[in-house]
Amino acid sequence: MQDAAKQRHILVTMALPYANGPIHLGHILEAVQTDVWVRFQRLKGEDCAYVCADDTHGTAIMLRAQNEGISPEELIARVQAEHERDYAKFDIGFSHFHSTNSPENEGLLQSIYLALKANGHIGKRTITQLFDPEKNLFLADRFIKGTCPKCKTPEQYGDNCENCNATYSPSDLIDPRSTLSGATPVEKDSEHFFFKLPEFTDMLKAWTRSGTLQESVANKLREWLEGGLQEWDISRDAPYFGFEIPDEPGKYFYVWLDAPIGYMASFEALCAKTDYKFDDYWRPGTDTELYHFIGKDIVNFHTLFWPAVLSSAGYRTPTAVFVHGFVTVNGQKMSKSRGTFINAEDYLSHLDPEYLRYYFAAKLSGAVDDLDLNFDDFVARVNSDLVGKVVNIASRCAGFINKGFDGMLAAQCSEPALVAEVQAAKDEIAALYEAREYSKAMRLIMTLADKANQYIADKAPWVIAKTDKQAPEVQAICSTGINLFRLIISYLKPVLPAMAQKVEDFLAIDPLQWDSVDSLLLDHEIGAFVPLITRVDPDKVAEMMDTVKASQAVAGGESASHPSVEQAKVDTPLSKEPICEEIQFPDFAKVDLRIAKIVNAEHVEGADKLLRLTLDLGLDEKGEPLQRNVFSGIKSAYDPADLIGRLTVLVANLAPRKMKFGMSEGMVLAAGPGGKDIFLLEPDAGAQPGMRVI
Ligand code: MSP
Ligand code: ZN
Repeated sequence: MQDAAKQRHILVTMALPYANGPIHLGHILEAVQTDVWVRFQRLKGEDCAYVCADDTHGTAIMLRAQNEGISPEELIARVQAEHERDYAKFDIGFSHFHSTNSPENEGLLQSIYLALKANGHIGKRTITQLFDPEKNLFLADRFIKGTCPKCKTPEQYGDNCENCNATYSPSDLIDPRSTLSGATPVEKDSEHFFFKLPEFTDMLKAWTRSGTLQESVANKLREWLEGGLQEWDISRDAPYFGFEIPDEPGKYFYVWLDAPIGYMASFEALCAKTDYKFDDYWRPGTDTELYHFIGKDIVNFHTLFWPAVLSSAGYRTPTAVFVHGFVTVNGQKMSKSRGTFINAEDYLSHLDPEYLRYYFAAKLSGAVDDLDLNFDDFVARVNSDLVGKVVNIASRCAGFINKGFDGMLAAQCSEPALVAEVQAAKDEIAALYEAREYSKAMRLIMTLADKANQYIADKAPWVIAKTDKQAPEVQAICSTGINLFRLIISYLKPVLPAMAQKVEDFLAIDPLQWDSVDSLLLDHEIGAFVPLITRVDPDKVAEMMDTVKASQAVAGGESASHPSVEQAKVDTPLSKEPICEEIQFPDFAKVDLRIAKIVNAEHVEGADKLLRLTLDLGLDEKGEPLQRNVFSGIKSAYDPADLIGRLTVLVANLAPRKMKFGMSEGMVLAAGPGGKDIFLLEPDAGAQPGMRVI
């Protein structure tokens, strides 16, 4: 333990995951980065609290609960249980996990708002926004689609164009429509509340320069500050799932005001069950440290609004904000349509969480760079480093100690110089962990493991043991090997807590601390060697990717990132339609379902809902190519260009139907309630056009 006078008192937070979706591997990257740092501090003997919560408010959650026919409270309770379960499986060591929909959060939010108001930092004015006349709500940018005013690309969101990158306001869109109802939005006035951010320009300039930010983040911030800050709209009109503004009926606090306050609320709840004192961590003038770990997409909230709100309300500002980049999967953005959107649960049902903890650590730096999770590299890296290098040291030595010496380690190490070299790396590795340069730390640790393996290979205890199992030299070499292994595991413990615990059991020792590397394990009886980790099986990775692709072909295409600031991801509810009347097998057999490949898809002049699809059904009896023309009512959900090349399922023996736009020769299968939420059924890759579906 550390000298109490020198012990650091640290509060760490990570971004609060939205309660409108499951934990995915992007969240896990953030959680691993944060957890490794926290575990490292705790192993060093620092006092380090780690809090998080679910971010529960906003329109998306309200709509999703409506779709599922449950209350928002029921929805967020269920999701929170799932989130906590997933994080626990990845061994994320929270001190407390809370909810922004909590009395602590509401109390803090109200008192902060009243302080901002009393300080003259809240303004009011009427603004005009687009309103969905069918759903009766104001539409956030993500809920409006239309044609880009600049390049005329259809189906663009209300804030920016994915084709030409133009940014605009939703009312500039050509033919805008609500993605919630399909209705044409109307303009409507309403009074909003604003936080006077520009008044904090000087304060933020000083804060930015005080070493609180990574260089690239500080540069970005300087740009924003020089460009001039704008007042921040902190209110939303009913209906909204959130906290109501005091004395302003029908007006709610915008989710992004109460979300970071959730950090405080979670800590307050931790104080209630421990000796922590709230003010020690949140009032100015203490020597406690406060760190926020976040992703690059939410920098403005944490480095502009949040410090400004804190300082107006009389709280301390963060010691530092640590920003990381985004996870890509096999070189691609995590996206459902690409089959690269991997939920924590998908991963956990096929692979060991420690593999991913290690892989992320082996690739993370203190910079804001994106991180590619390449699964070939993942298999190779984990197998070569953890199995081939680290565990190999112990598995080559333990048997000889157990069999020849009743598990007793020698009284001395036989290679003091090498042991001392590994011990001497302690401070360098500590500095790398502290700076979040985990990839450098892992590389250094692996070079130490290489040296340990080289030593054992050179000494070849198995050769000596062949003639004499109890030769003192065998004990000396293998005891040295076990000691080197123990040092390396101590260094890896922040990353691999579960494996470290198995090692502690196997070595029959107390939990390793950071300072454990200063001593050696001599004249000590170890237990029997247990398998510590199994090789990553590439088949399991393939199985996981197949499962993910299959589920996402049905669930429709959505991206993991959310360029807009609103909570925008609304998952599709399962259809609530009752099952139709029972039929007999011969009835079913009459329906000829065929695999079809979409070789062309295009808009139909004058049709609101239809796309014209040209389908390839393979070859007919005569060996001639068989094609069908089908009109399908999926225009609201698909860009024709995205459909070309995809497989789907066709009802091939449906009587042709003459439509206004031409003959439709069959029907493609799709599911979903309609609008944007229509999902074309897609067979697994490998199915061939023309195959009968049975
Ligand atoms: N609820 C807000 C945060 C409020 S904090 C007061 C939010 N939620 S989120 O669920 O969308 O994202 C949570 C965190 O995960 C953010 O830091 C975000 O940057 C991070 N990530 C989301 N997708 C990611 C990747 N693909 N890769 C890495 N991190 C990513 O934003
Ligand atoms: Zn455009």
